[in-house]
Amino acid sequence: MDRLLIRGGTPLRGRVKVNGSKNAALPIIAAALLTGDRVIIEEVPDLLDVRTMIAVLEGLGTAVDYHPEGGRLRVVSGDPPLAAPHARLVSRMRASFLILGPLLARKKEVSLPLPGGCAIGTRPVDLHLKGLAAMGAEFAIVNGAVVGRTAGLRGAQIYLDFPSVGATENIMMAATLACGTTILENAATEPEIVDLANFLNSMGASVVGAGTPRIRIEGVSALGGTRYSIIPDRIEAGTLLLAGIITGGDLIVENVLPDHLKALKAKLMEAGAIVEEVGPAAMRAAANGLTAAVDLKTAPYPGFSTDLQPQFMALLALSGGIGTITETIFENRFRHIEGLNRMGAQIQVEGRRAIVRGQPSLSGAPVIAPDLRGAAALLLAGLAAGGETELCGLEHLWRGYGRLEERLASLGARIELVSEESEWAMQTGG
Ligand code: EPZ
Repeated sequence: MDRLLIRGGTPLRGRVKVNGSKNAALPIIAAALLTGDRVIIEEVPDLLDVRTMIAVLEGLGTAVDYHPEGGRLRVVSGDPPLAAPHARLVSRMRASFLILGPLLARKKEVSLPLPGGCAIGTRPVDLHLKGLAAMGAEFAIVNGAVVGRTAGLRGAQIYLDFPSVGATENIMMAATLACGTTILENAATEPEIVDLANFLNSMGASVVGAGTPRIRIEGVSALGGTRYSIIPDRIEAGTLLLAGIITGGDLIVENVLPDHLKALKAKLMEAGAIVEEVGPAAMRAAANGLTAAVDLKTAPYPGFSTDLQPQFMALLALSGGIGTITETIFENRFRHIEGLNRMGAQIQVEGRRAIVRGQPSLSGAPVIAPDLRGAAALLLAGLAAGGETELCGLEHLWRGYGRLEERLASLGARIELVSEESEWAMQTGG
């Protein structure tokens, strides 16, 4: 079992580049199924979740060619009817549910395992199904799978009870090939929605209003191939900015779209840190004395991202006062608190709110990552803590961060990836 050994206390300094966005890549790879023509996607990050999505498409009989070093992915789903998705593969990652819209649009029928809840919550898909049903799809739940079929999708007026990112993406993708116009109200406005819409339009779709709560999609008869480059990962960027500040360092983070990080920048400045744009695609983050305690509430974009909540909590654990974090998006996204408290943090949970009593320091400890962003939070805490932290559960970290330990080491972090095999080999001389 791989683990990271982190000896904290070194300020991170230097320049680091952000990879392509995981949460843009996953829906865009799924959207490649909307055409039988060749699709080339650039800047695709080499992540566990991307590899899983590639395997899902290959299981459908799609030809996929991925060059991780260059970040280029080529998809040709071809004209033969797409095979049924591999249930085991799809159930491994919730984002696989994003093939629902494309398969309904192209095959007019699909059976997909209901995505299980995961570490951070039950995560239902009722809004996905309600929107697609409004477009003429019929669904049944059979043996834990969603079985859907349609005589042909047609445009509809849809209002989302919650601005769900995934539901917005599934409905938008399906609507590109529906007969007529779809108006989606109370849609998610995340940058990844805009990136998906731009990708769809590059294939010949007609999507207007992405990035606003009202998206209009004119269905077309077919979509064609394209070459498209995805946006940088704003959550990885925010994680790296926080790494610079929590270690008392000074970082330049490159390949960033500062507009995507306004909420984080505002909160970090309120906490007294230095955060500034140093170019059209770069930001600087530096510590500026003791972090002040602040109150934080997650919200749909452009509010503070739930995906940066655990990482910000690690910083708050070292602040000079008492701050609070309210998690409004997921009902169980505080599982990193146990590990932080093992490192000396003083954090209490009251329902959806965490009360964080800042401490002068944290101390390294063996901790287990509970989920993707919780892994990042514990890693940040380990970089700032005195002594050694051993972080296990790295399969969570690898889902969303590519070779993060190498990039952090290049900035001065004392961090080492240890795999059980190497230790075993040493002991047995194997
Ligand atoms: C996307 O998940 C992201 N994942 C998540 O990032 C992110 O946290 C989330 O959006 C919110 O921003 C990808 O893009 C691959 P939602 P998604 O549908 O689409 C409820 C990460 O760390 N809901 O916006 O699954 C749901 O239970 C991941 O990179 C319904 O009730 O999120 C949740 O409470 C974690 N019914 C809330 O909405 C539905 O049909 C937000 O879910 C759908 C969602």
